Amino acid sequence: MAGESAPGELTADVVGIGFGPANMALAIALEERAGTGAVRARFFEKQREFGWHRGMLIDGATMQVPFLKDLSTPRDPTSRFGFLSYLHAKNRMMDFLNRKSFYPLRTEFHDYLAWAAEQLADRVAYGSEVIALRPVKDERGVTRSVDLVVRCQGMLSTVRTRTVVLASGLEPVLPDGVMATDRVWHSADLLYQTEKIATGEPRTFVVVGAGQSAAETVGFLHERFPHAEVHAVFARYGFSVADDSSFANQIFDPVARDEYFGAPEQVKEMLSGYHANTNYSVVDDDLIRDLYDRVYREGLSGTRRLHLHKVSRVREQTAGPDDVRVDIEFLPTGDRTAVQADAVIYATGYRPGDPLTLLGDLGGACLRDERGRLRVGRDYRIQTTDDVEAAIFLQGSTEHSHGISSSLLSNTAVRAGEIAEALEACL
Ligand code: FDA
Repeated sequence: MAGESAPGELTADVVGIGFGPANMALAIALEERAGTGAVRARFFEKQREFGWHRGMLIDGATMQVPFLKDLSTPRDPTSRFGFLSYLHAKNRMMDFLNRKSFYPLRTEFHDYLAWAAEQLADRVAYGSEVIALRPVKDERGVTRSVDLVVRCQGMLSTVRTRTVVLASGLEPVLPDGVMATDRVWHSADLLYQTEKIATGEPRTFVVVGAGQSAAETVGFLHERFPHAEVHAVFARYGFSVADDSSFANQIFDPVARDEYFGAPEQVKEMLSGYHANTNYSVVDDDLIRDLYDRVYREGLSGTRRLHLHKVSRVREQTAGPDDVRVDIEFLPTGDRTAVQADAVIYATGYRPGDPLTLLGDLGGACLRDERGRLRVGRDYRIQTTDDVEAAIFLQGSTEHSHGISSSLLSNTAVRAGEIAEALEACL
């Protein structure tokens, strides 16, 4: 990408922070909106190259959305960036169709995203982290634009724009008091850390968590290390199935998002509660069956490697020179089991990044609801005081306003089209 313009000059119409699926879909929507002049959009991505949850690209893992919920098809089925165009470009259409599944492999979806990213590369700066936003005020004290401070290879530069789209995605969450080390990981780093530890022929793993990532991690380690024991620790009685039934799945539809947005707070809470099991702390049915089958077969053969510590939690964890001692408490009785583990993997989920950490001084001008959460318009623009004319849009971090699909792929394409339209109105 070209270098920065002179200080004070607008360097882009739109600046996108992050280049994951959300801002990729936006880049595509901006490009494809018929009849509009070229919007100068620039995107900054802190990873050195395109990557989508690389640490969890487990062989055989599948997507939890059908392939048609790609970067563009639900917005415009004729888009050249759809999954079908990808299959066609790679000459894999028939192979995909003969597989007879709506759900691509995760590695395959990554390849699709990388294919799309390559075609959009002229507007993305990789290895570039946006570290701060600074309001630029005119002589009347009105914030008409913002400067984004970008760090690239240790150098700082500034980009000025009137519209920003923040799509910085999810951050891995470790339980309070747990620090990541070479032997204590978040599941987000599973594949990287596994390769590091593999040469030491690990014998024992502990995996904490009950959601999809936890179940995948358990299955992966159990298969990857055929002589190792895997201890799964979770507070539930068992891995519970994700509700992907047809009616419940409608909660991810654009119309459901509209209804959620307009609903009173108590209805929002009710819906979030009822349908949390479409996404949170739940596991695909196939994977549950697979894990159960492994436990069952080990029971038959009498050689137990996969241990499920149900209704349990990690009470204590002590790092030794070559391992980690994990004390697992069985909650009904308080009994404890000690496990000496080569590694402990916390599959304890993610949370959306807090936009306020980047917004800096602008945060004070952002309106909040009665619980202190950002007020976000239906068009995903953060509501601000009247003295801010620069527009900041949010992708992700809007579950409180727009519902459960906010951090997921289901609405990505449609949302991108709506934001593109709103952005154009701001320029
Ligand atoms: P995403 O996190 O993908 O991208 C954000 C990007 O911003 C990252 O590349 C990051 O490096 C960059 N960034 C962050 N801060 C920055 C800064 N300050 N400056 C520059 N760059 C910055 N959902 C679904 O619907 N179906 C599915 O099958 C799955 N599967 C799945 C598997 C796994 C392992 C995980 C962890 C998550 C999923 N998800 C999912 C949910 C997931 O949130 C979703 O697929 C998308 O990644 C969301 O796209 P975003 O672009 O919003 O975030």
